[in-house]
Amino acid sequence: MRNRDTMLSDLRAMRPAIAPSMLKCDFGNLHRELELLTTSGAPLLHLDVMDGHFVPNLSYGPMVIERIRTRTSLPFDAHLMISDPARYLDEYIRVGCEAITFHLEAVPEPLSLLREIRRRGVVAGLAINPETPFSAAEPFLRECDLFLVMSVRPGFGGQKFIPDVLSKVTQARSAAGPDLIISIDGGVSKSTIGACARAGADVFVAGSSVFDEPDYKSAIAELRDIAITSRPGC
Ligand code: DX5
Ligand code: ZN
Repeated sequence: MRNRDTMLSDLRAMRPAIAPSMLKCDFGNLHRELELLTTSGAPLLHLDVMDGHFVPNLSYGPMVIERIRTRTSLPFDAHLMISDPARYLDEYIRVGCEAITFHLEAVPEPLSLLREIRRRGVVAGLAINPETPFSAAEPFLRECDLFLVMSVRPGFGGQKFIPDVLSKVTQARSAAGPDLIISIDGGVSKSTIGACARAGADVFVAGSSVFDEPDYKSAIAELRDIAITSRPGC
């Protein structure tokens, strides 16, 4: 398992990165999906954890992640869409999550948990829902390694991208500078990724736009090419 320093430098070096969202994979054939992803050039896996309480859907938790960990050495970027994430932190670290992102809306205040995640040697991420303003997250960006901007309501894959959230990506990039890893999650596709990259995002979570395609490798490569050519300054 990578420590925080290694994970952070790996994440920064792989930008722009396409992060397949395992929510959309075929769970009936997980082993095969992991083999395909490993050979597809995916630089990391995005693991969507849902508790049926913070969001109106259930996905999977540490037991499944622990089994996935035995099948791949790709970095794990866990997106916890759960209430009371502090309570479950130990479990997600134990099963091998090298970046852990929780929601600002799920905690009374995020600072202590961000600091605890870092203290434990894990990349600390903060996520915000589409309706949460940037100003609510801004005071905490200094304590974040990764800022995840939701571009759909959390809970389900396959939803339509909400372009209004892009201003939060731009604001975060100008407030925090180049080191902050900014991830965008929900509805990222060939037609929306260019705008995300132009706004300053550098990790692009992709569920449907990878798993609904017949060839994961070319889907990831095409998305990444668009992100590269759309980056500010290109
Ligand atoms: C939604 C999840 C996303 C989602 C992405 O709550 O956080 O990661 O599965 O799937 P698509 O790319 O299909 O929107
Ligand atoms: Zn996600």
